[in-house]
Amino acid sequence: MKTALVGFMGAGKTSGAQTLGPGAVDVDAVIEQRSGRPVAEIFAAQGESAFRELEERTTLELLDDPTVRAVALGGGALQSQRIRDALGGVRVILLDIDAEQAWQRVGAGRDDARPLARDREQFERLHAARRPLYEALADVIVPASCSLRLGEILAAVEDVTPGEARVLWATAESGEYPVVIGAGLVGERAFWPRALSGRRVVVSDYNAAGLYAQAFEPALASIRIMPGEQSKTLAHAEIVWTEMVRHGVTRTDVVVALGGGVVGDLAGFCAAAYQRGMRFVQVPTTLVAQVDSAYGGKTGVDLAEAKNYVGAFHQPSAVLVDPQTLTTLAPEELAAGYAEVVKTGLLAGGALWDRIRGGAPANDLQVITGCALTKLRIVAQDEHDTGPRQLLNLGHTIGHAIETVTGYARYRHGEAVALGLLAALRLSGAEDLREEVSELLAGAGLPLSLDPQVSVEEVIRATARDKKRVGEGPVPFVLCPAPGRALFGQVVAPEELRAAVEELRA
Ligand SMILES: NC(=O)c1ccc[n+]([C@@H]2O[C@H](COP(=O)([O-])OP(=O)(O)OC[C@H]3O[C@@H](n4cnc5c(N)ncnc54)[C@H](O)[C@@H]3O)[C@@H](O)[C@H]2O)c1
Repeated sequence: MKTALVGFMGAGKTSGAQTLGPGAVDVDAVIEQRSGRPVAEIFAAQGESAFRELEERTTLELLDDPTVRAVALGGGALQSQRIRDALGGVRVILLDIDAEQAWQRVGAGRDDARPLARDREQFERLHAARRPLYEALADVIVPASCSLRLGEILAAVEDVTPGEARVLWATAESGEYPVVIGAGLVGERAFWPRALSGRRVVVSDYNAAGLYAQAFEPALASIRIMPGEQSKTLAHAEIVWTEMVRHGVTRTDVVVALGGGVVGDLAGFCAAAYQRGMRFVQVPTTLVAQVDSAYGGKTGVDLAEAKNYVGAFHQPSAVLVDPQTLTTLAPEELAAGYAEVVKTGLLAGGALWDRIRGGAPANDLQVITGCALTKLRIVAQDEHDTGPRQLLNLGHTIGHAIETVTGYARYRHGEAVALGLLAALRLSGAEDLREEVSELLAGAGLPLSLDPQVSVEEVIRATARDKKRVGEGPVPFVLCPAPGRALFGQVVAPEELRAAVEELRA
């Protein structure tokens, strides 16, 4: 199958194409070679629309040429409907770059900057307009930082059939892995990456296992825990480890974390510590897990005193996401996941937020993919939570405190996050946004007010134990004055915190 490389200016499409071996061509380079002039000169002499026509003709010809195996497209080529149509039977790879990085690479006020990279605001607008177009068409999305290893990465995901599933290539300081997203991926017999050798050890809860564990047979062991947050404890980790020993699990085997966030966090932690670390694959089957918890390698368990207090950073070897598994999920669980969808949309802003506020259903495939991409982009910058990853805590500082003081039993994680989001937007002074978010959360059936029996004092005290706190310093909050503009490490005055929590009780 032919490959097309798409992406914004500066993403490294030309060098990426070169890693794909002979038969790879770059449309801009072909145009320059044939016309004997640089693209910038054609732009200046004939204007953008004449260049676009030439670009369309050349791109269509190269996509049709059987001797060409890979084509690096120009950054604006996907604006052409004819080019988009011609990509039907082609594997489309997006080299993903954010606006800031792209500006540093090709714009930044350089005298020799490309024609569309001379004005920063125009550049950012163009990036915001084109990125969703690239994302919608891409079969594989790879961070631009990996452009020189593109050939190797594509070889690792060769067994994923375009049209049936998409791949997001996740990167973090400690490791990289494919996130494969496709309806029917679990099915009767689950998709399993060819590159992943080793016997499978399925760790799941009774609900998810009853529905989907069969698809992962043959497995060396199938270990089940009781469903629910109360199973996310050290005692349960010990049960899993003991079962693993009894089944003769060794370090070269692979744990399959099949279920929601509870199973993912617990099984991932068990994999991180068993014989000092073994591989695991996340197979998220709840919305919370598909839009958030399955990515980024945070694993761990709760203590009675505080949530997620003991754990490890341990990246999965792959994440397999089948949105069809959400069809068996209880409506309240889907609603709980919607709180994480709204959180992620607020962090991303732009097209993702527009789609969510426009009423996309909770389990919309594009929304799930957009949320996964948003989280992966953040984790890629800061795996260990010392900087921007803290953004993912939006709504969680107070949300986790509510979960803790109610014994992890009164509210689902997502329900507590919904309340935490409202408090965080109050602290952000974002009145209109809080109103809009309230409506979205209420529409999904999520609570907008705190059970009057919950003590405000206790919630405030539990907030002070938030893991992001350093020493005796203030608890850092994530505030979100506007979609896409969240800030981490913000200090909140005690009286403001009290007012925001009290308001939830109103
Ligand atoms: N590691 C992270 O980065 C991260 C991020 C967000 C949340 N989390 C954690 O995730 C946990 C919450 O996850 P959750 O909301 O998925 O809860 P959960 O794992 O308890 O699942 C919710 C319920 O859905 C059931 N279930 C799972 N899949 C099903 C399916 N396909 N059909 C029918 N029932 C199904 C489960 O058995 C359970 O009863 C919390 O502990 C939270 O701290 C972790």
